[in-house]
Amino acid sequence: MMKVMMANTVGRLCFRQKNILAPMVRVGTLPMRLLALDYGADIVYCEELIDIKMAQCERVENDVLQTIDFVAPDERVMFRTCSKESGRVVFQMGTADPERALAVAKLVENDVAAVDVNMGCPKEYSTKGGMGSALLSDPEKIEAILTTLVKGISKPVTCKIRILSTIEDTVNLVKRIEKTGVAAIAVHGRMKDERPRHPVHCDYIQAVAQSVSVPVIANGGSSDIVKEFEDIETFRESTGASSVMLARAAMWNPSVFRQQGALSVDQVMQEYITYAVRYDNNPFNTKYCLCQMLRDRVESPFGKRLHAAQTNQEICEVFGMTELFNKTTAELESRRASLQASEDL
Ligand code: FNR
Repeated sequence: MMKVMMANTVGRLCFRQKNILAPMVRVGTLPMRLLALDYGADIVYCEELIDIKMAQCERVENDVLQTIDFVAPDERVMFRTCSKESGRVVFQMGTADPERALAVAKLVENDVAAVDVNMGCPKEYSTKGGMGSALLSDPEKIEAILTTLVKGISKPVTCKIRILSTIEDTVNLVKRIEKTGVAAIAVHGRMKDERPRHPVHCDYIQAVAQSVSVPVIANGGSSDIVKEFEDIETFRESTGASSVMLARAAMWNPSVFRQQGALSVDQVMQEYITYAVRYDNNPFNTKYCLCQMLRDRVESPFGKRLHAAQTNQEICEVFGMTELFNKTTAELESRRASLQASEDL
C-alpha cells in the first residue's frame, strides 16, 4: 500500500515556496515560458485554453521541432510544449463543464505537470459561457469540476480565483475548494469588478493563507508591489502565502524572476526571439509579446518597424538577428530532411 502511495506522489509538482509565471492569454506561449524558466521561475502556467477548442485537438509529436503539439482541426497549434519545461508547466483551461474539463485534462495529462482551472477571468467571452469568474458564484459547479478532475487524472489539479466581496466569503469559498483535493489555490487579490489599476488586497490573501493548509499562491502584486526580484519576497511576506505568481511584471520583463537582477529589455527581447525562431512560434504571437515588452517604445520608429513585420524572419531583420534566423532555420531544415530520408528507407 505504502509503495503504491509513494509511486503516486513521487515527482508530483509541489507548489510551496515557488515563483510562478501566471497564465496570460497570448503571452504565456512556449517562448515566454521557457524564458521565464531560464531566468529562475520555478513553475510556468500556459495561457488559458478553452475546453471546447482543446477537446477538438489532436496530439501530435513534432519530430522536427522536438515538441508535442495540440493541433486544432484548422491546423492551428493551440498548445505546444517541449521537454525543457516538462515537470514545470501547468496547463490552464477555461471550462464550465466537469466532463469536458476531464476529457481535456486526460488529453494533456501526460505532457504537463499539473492542470489548472481559471475561475478569475472577468471578460465577457469567459463569463457568458459560465466560465472564469462566473464560476465564483456557483460553488457547486466549482466543486463538481475540481472533484471530477482530482479523481480523474493522476497529475495535481489547481485553480485560480479572484477574491469575493468580503474576506469571510472568500475564506469560505477557499475552504470548500480545499476539500476537493486540489494541490494549490492561486488567489488574485482583486474582486471581479476591479481592474489592474485598483490596489491588490493583500489582507484577503493573508486571511485565506491563514485559514487553509493547501498552498496558496499570491497573485496581483505586479506594479503595486512587485517591480523587481526582491519585491517577490515582500509580496509573499505581506500575504503570508506559500508562493507568488507574476503576470504583468513578467510580461514586461520576464527576467524579473532573475535572482541576480533583471536584464535589459533589449537583451530579453533578443533571447525571446531566439526561442520564438527555434520553436517556430506564430509570428503574430511573437510580435504581440515583443510589443508588451517594448511598452512606451511601441510608438517609436523601431516599434513601428516591428509592427510592420509579418514573419519571424522579418522580426529578426528588425532586431538585426538575420544570422540567427538563417542558422536556426537551416538546422531545422536539415533535421526535417534527415527525418524524411529515414522515413523513405
Ligand atoms: C491575464 N490574466 C489571466 N488570468 C488567467 O487566469 N488566465 C489567463 O489566461 C489570463 N490572461 C491574461 C493576459 C494578460 C495579458 C494579462 C495582463 C493578465 C490575469 C493574470 O494572470 C493575473 O491574475 C493578473 O494580471 C494579476 O497579476 P499581476 O499582473 O498583478 O501579476
